[in-house]
Amino acid sequence: MTQDDFRARLDRNADATEALLDGLLRPDPLPGELARPARLLEAMRYAMLGGGKRLRPHLVTETARLFGREGDGVTRACAAIECIHGYSLVHDDLPAMDDDELRRGKPTVHRAFDVATAILAGDGLLTLAFDILADDATDRDAEIRVALTLALARASGIGGMVGGQMLDLEAEGRFTPEGRPLANGEAETLKLQAMKTGALLAAAVDMGAIIGRAGGEQRRALATYGRALGQAFQIADDLLDAEGEAATVGKATGKDAAKGKSTLVSHLGLAVARDRLAGLVDQAKNALSTFGHNADTLRKTADFVAERRS
Ligand code: IPE
Ligand code: IPE
Ligand code: MG
Ligand code: MG
Ligand code: MG
Repeated sequence: MTQDDFRARLDRNADATEALLDGLLRPDPLPGELARPARLLEAMRYAMLGGGKRLRPHLVTETARLFGREGDGVTRACAAIECIHGYSLVHDDLPAMDDDELRRGKPTVHRAFDVATAILAGDGLLTLAFDILADDATDRDAEIRVALTLALARASGIGGMVGGQMLDLEAEGRFTPEGRPLANGEAETLKLQAMKTGALLAAAVDMGAIIGRAGGEQRRALATYGRALGQAFQIADDLLDAEGEAATVGKATGKDAAKGKSTLVSHLGLAVARDRLAGLVDQAKNALSTFGHNADTLRKTADFVAERRS
């Protein structure tokens, strides 16, 4: 698979998710809904459309494709996880969290609208994710829908993304009287990152495996891939924060050090973090050996995660 082929695949997967989200975020109420307030919908559309790499949808799609599954149901699972991701970004950027003004190359939702609307837009996206999964258009088999729901909920909640965000803010030292960053070791930082970012990336792979009715051994191999990829992803994000330019990255850079965030870059320095990243990419790729060439897109995805500039 050439780099161009990979790019085309990434773009096609992103376009499919974008089109579906556009349809899901229309003004007409669904059965059981009373009305869709225009300002809320506008903020949700602003958060979700026209930006982002759509990496999690790409992972769902390419993992499901390993098992010959594709189509609208798969894209709905993609839209669901992207809604969780989108909501996590809207809330992550809030003044009470990371207080950021730029996201995906444009003003953050609370800057373009207001804080209350941004909170509600995030809440709306979180709820919509599970609405999408519960609908039988996602998969005719209710057991698959329940398994998808559980995987996404576990990855997103207390013991996953939300929990990781809590640990991330605690590590900054916000809740200590002196306000000094915690003396986190590497193990604590790895846990924090596995939760705040890794869990959702691993869930994207797992959702593809669930849709694909993967057997135990295949599912375990994919879980190893997903975990390594998730860890690699956050190191790359931290390197971009330390070394990237906001104009390319699409969000402010240099903020982790300024806020005393606990990252592997702050613990190990740039060079060692880069080595770690390369090692994790190899680990992710090696986990896919049982799938042979069928998994070439997922292998290229691991390279993409490490080499991305935004
Ligand atoms: C950024 O995620 C936030 C983290 C989880 C570190 P992405 O880099 O996937 O953001 P988008 O979706 O492409 O904007
Ligand atoms: C945020 O991590 C992860 C989530 C949104 C769950 P960061 O705070 O590092 O993400 P960016 O750098 O703002 O995208
Ligand atoms: Mg954050
Ligand atoms: Mg942030
Ligand atoms: Mg970051």
